[in-house]
Amino acid sequence: MKVWIPVFILMVMFTVGGRAYGAGADDLITQGKALFNSNCAKCHGYDGVGTDKGPPFLNKIYKPSHHSDMSFQMAVMNGVRAHHWRFGNMPPVEGVGMAEMGMIIQYVRSIQKEAGIY
Ligand code: HEC
Repeated sequence: MKVWIPVFILMVMFTVGGRAYGAGADDLITQGKALFNSNCAKCHGYDGVGTDKGPPFLNKIYKPSHHSDMSFQMAVMNGVRAHHWRFGNMPPVEGVGMAEMGMIIQYVRSIQKEAGIY
């Protein structure tokens, strides 16, 4: 049984880290920030503060207990039908896979923590 624990840890690291396999948490956040800036910031704002095209992630409704990491994955894969705000629908984001999203989510959670959202 014990032999499976390192295997499990490696699997988790691989899932979370994706291409950045083996990178530390800070590296993941740094890469997540770069990915966020190039794919999400035009609507959700640099540092997640929102724009006139999309909502801020520094809002309590986006804390993990209300919008889980999985809801972030789903949003990017399938797009979002406008329901919380009046910005319109979010289209699916092309070229951002689950591994990239893993890093983006780590970054978003880090700025949410910094802002005292949760
Ligand atoms: C073209 C603009 C646009 C881009 C680009 C965009 N979003 Fe959005 N996003 C929106 C809008 C608008 C909403 C709000 C929909 C609503 O009314 O709830 C939204 C909502 C969301 C939600 C909330 C989903 C839910 O279940 O309520 C998440 C999570 C999200 N976006 C993540 C991202 C991430 C991560 C990226 C970058 C990979 C991204 N978005 C890029 C416009 C955008």
